[in-house]
Amino acid sequence: MKQIIINGTNTISGEIAISGAKNSVVALIPAAILSDSLVKITNVPKLSDCDSLEQILLDLNCDVIRNKDTFVISTMNMQNKFISNELSQKLRASYYFMGSLLAKYNHVEIGMPGGCDFGTRPIDLHLKGFEQLGAKVTVLDDRIILDAPQLNGTTINLEKVSVGATINLLLAATKANGITTINNAACEPEIDNVIDFLNNMGAKISGKGTSTLQITGVKKLGTSQIAVIPDRIETGTYMILATLLGDLKITNTNPIYVKSICDILKQMGVNIEYSANEIIVHKSFNNKPINIETNPYPGFPTDLGQIIAVLMTQINGQSTLTENIYNGRTKYLVHLSNMGADINLKDNVTTINGPTKLIGTTVEATDLRAGAAFLVAGAIAEGSTTINKADLILRGYENIVEKLDKIGINIIIQDELDKNLTPESVKKKKL
Ligand code: UD1
Repeated sequence: MKQIIINGTNTISGEIAISGAKNSVVALIPAAILSDSLVKITNVPKLSDCDSLEQILLDLNCDVIRNKDTFVISTMNMQNKFISNELSQKLRASYYFMGSLLAKYNHVEIGMPGGCDFGTRPIDLHLKGFEQLGAKVTVLDDRIILDAPQLNGTTINLEKVSVGATINLLLAATKANGITTINNAACEPEIDNVIDFLNNMGAKISGKGTSTLQITGVKKLGTSQIAVIPDRIETGTYMILATLLGDLKITNTNPIYVKSICDILKQMGVNIEYSANEIIVHKSFNNKPINIETNPYPGFPTDLGQIIAVLMTQINGQSTLTENIYNGRTKYLVHLSNMGADINLKDNVTTINGPTKLIGTTVEATDLRAGAAFLVAGAIAEGSTTINKADLILRGYENIVEKLDKIGINIIIQDELDKNLTPESVKKKKL
């Protein structure tokens, strides 16, 4: 595993360019196999999750040309096979191959999804939706099997707003007979990105950006080209960092996607300027305490909860974070508390009293966004912070070490020391 070592600083300055959105690209790549021809995806971020999805494509015998930030994928020689647990468990979004393979071949065998561990992450809504479309679902110890003589359009009322279930059912319905309506669909911009990609292929999906999607099944899907939208979570992460440490210009982004974050920061007193695809955040002193609730888009994203909690530690007074989506996202609190934060957790509400001085220590990236939170905490802490399991951060932030280094943060990444090494074993190796 990797570790990141970061030294606290007083100031940052300059520009950061935002990469393509992780949560978009991890759906666009599985969606690509729906094409009967070839597709091109541009603005693909360099993330380990993209490498994992590329491995799945290659295992399914797709042809992939990867050049800088572009994926060209041809399905001409593709074969439908069991996607092993070794491949599927590398990331959560491997489960999007359920929807796309089901639509294409009416049969799927896939290992269990992986992904960050922040409590139970059920996929019952995905499976129930596939059943409603006509698939038989069998869950075994080592695989999920989906089988459908044919898929028929229907009305699916999602019991909960779910990004993953919305995308998976959208993929499955693209080639079903007749019309499928998904009610209570999630409205995240990443879903719109997938809809544009599929409609460019020839799919017939309406209702983009709303909570009701209507999909009229088509027989064939052809070539398509799409650019991955800017990552709103990466944008929000750097906005929070800038609030704490210095004026920062964030380029290649879309201010509309981060409106909820801008609203919260402005309520605190932060000065933010925008243009069409840039945001300038000014370092902000004397921020006001805030009460934040995470909610589905356009609400404040759960993926930024842990990161804004670090900002709360520097505000004079009591702030609260109510986690409404993944309330298992709390393992990071013990580490933040070890750094000096004054935190109290009750049910799904984290109360933070500030300001408290943070002191560098060794912490663990308990999940991807927790890792990002520790980067922000380490950047403002006194002394040096070592973040173990930093590979998790690289799953979601392209070139993060280089980007932070460029704006003035003292940061390095290296391999973690092998825990089995002892003075004796080193001595033996020498002999
Ligand atoms: C996606 C994002 C993740 C983000 C989350 C919420 C990707 C790859 N990941 O995750 O970064 O934190 O949205 O914005 O896009 N639920 C069920 N049953 C299901 C599915 C979900 O009960 O079948 C529940 C979940 O436990 C959670 C809520 O619904 O409480 C929302 O989850 P969902 O939107 O599905 O999250 P993901 O798609 O896994």
